[in-house]
Amino acid sequence: MTAAAAVPIRERAANKTFDVERIRQDFPILRTKVHGHPLVYLDNAATSQKPQTVIDALVRYYEGENANIHRGVHYLSELATAEFEKARETVRAFVNAARASEIVFTRGTTEAINLVAQTYGRVHVGAGDEVLITAMEHHSNIVPWQLLCEEKGAKLRVAPINDAGELLLEEFEKLLGPRTKVVAVAHVSNALGTINPLKQMIAMAHAHGVPVVVDGAQAAPHIAVDVQELDCDFYAFSGHKMYGPTGIGVLYGRHALLEAMPPYQGGGDMISSVTFEKTTYNKLPHKFEAGTPDMAGVAGLKAAIEYMNGIGIAKIAAHEHGLLEYATEVVGAIEGVRLIGTAREKASVLSFVLDEVHPHDIGTILDQQGIAVRTGHHCAQPVMERFSIPATVRASFAVYNMRAEVDALARGIRKVREVFA
Ligand code: ALA
Repeated sequence: MTAAAAVPIRERAANKTFDVERIRQDFPILRTKVHGHPLVYLDNAATSQKPQTVIDALVRYYEGENANIHRGVHYLSELATAEFEKARETVRAFVNAARASEIVFTRGTTEAINLVAQTYGRVHVGAGDEVLITAMEHHSNIVPWQLLCEEKGAKLRVAPINDAGELLLEEFEKLLGPRTKVVAVAHVSNALGTINPLKQMIAMAHAHGVPVVVDGAQAAPHIAVDVQELDCDFYAFSGHKMYGPTGIGVLYGRHALLEAMPPYQGGGDMISSVTFEKTTYNKLPHKFEAGTPDMAGVAGLKAAIEYMNGIGIAKIAAHEHGLLEYATEVVGAIEGVRLIGTAREKASVLSFVLDEVHPHDIGTILDQQGIAVRTGHHCAQPVMERFSIPATVRASFAVYNMRAEVDALARGIRKVREVFA
């Protein structure tokens, strides 16, 4: 069966300017068969699959460009350096940062948040101070702040959410006060899919003179991010969730804040001069990029952003929104299913539980049908506690997913019900 034949006609006709069949052909892994079934990959919030252009960019880097950057006068080093800095400009434009020097390459969102906690945080948070987060954060936007608070004798405050998984904005505002030194918040919740009202939250925090760190890991692949429009102070995201390679991520930081912050790690490239008596640091963003960076990863991330730009983030968002609405309807209609996370504003994620059946069992039976979902607490144990459940099943969508795959998921869940009847 050709790939075209595998896509129902109604989907091909649905949006003439968005051709999911064409997009699927860009992702070699989607041809995989799992237990004799076509792969239905619905674990995109954990990591997305990679288009051929990203895979090619990695190969091209190693075949024709590999050399250490910012260090050599030879041809390859200069080429690798130029490509690396071009990629930084691509990332700058992607999030509409004012300057390329505000883009720091990291290993991912987790490292980016730890960087801010260990530099900005260690300077500005002291005994009796507070760091404000929300009840829907991923562990990577909880634990770095807990570590900081423990070290400094500061307090972690948590803004509550309602039963739909939406932030209680008034409560959030009430928790802002003279002791609040940092706000750290997810743009989109990885466990619930909630899109937070970031602009309002940032304006509220700024009214109290508090900077805002945004965990954008689940937003950057799905919705347009404009750091100037948001007016955020830091914005962290990962390459691997947005069609790029693993091991590469980004921290956007407002120039004046990055400038005033001490370095995170010491090593090569982050210095201006070193003597045993004193070291002075490199200019931005190199001050925060100690050691040999992931040059291949950066090349892959550039290709991933170019891939997304080629489709257009608005079209990606509209397609995924349509899938999410459809999935909410068909999965939500299955007897015994309880959706976890029913916020009005959501992106990509459908979390649910099924009467009396453990999510791991559901995941295993779905896998037998070629359907990949994530089951567990999704590195957001406090979210599970908020809903008094140990775990959920999470289907998460990407640009290459189809309604036919949502139908397969719904069939799979009905099969689970039969098995456990
Ligand atoms: N943070 C990733 C997830 O939500 C791994 O699955």
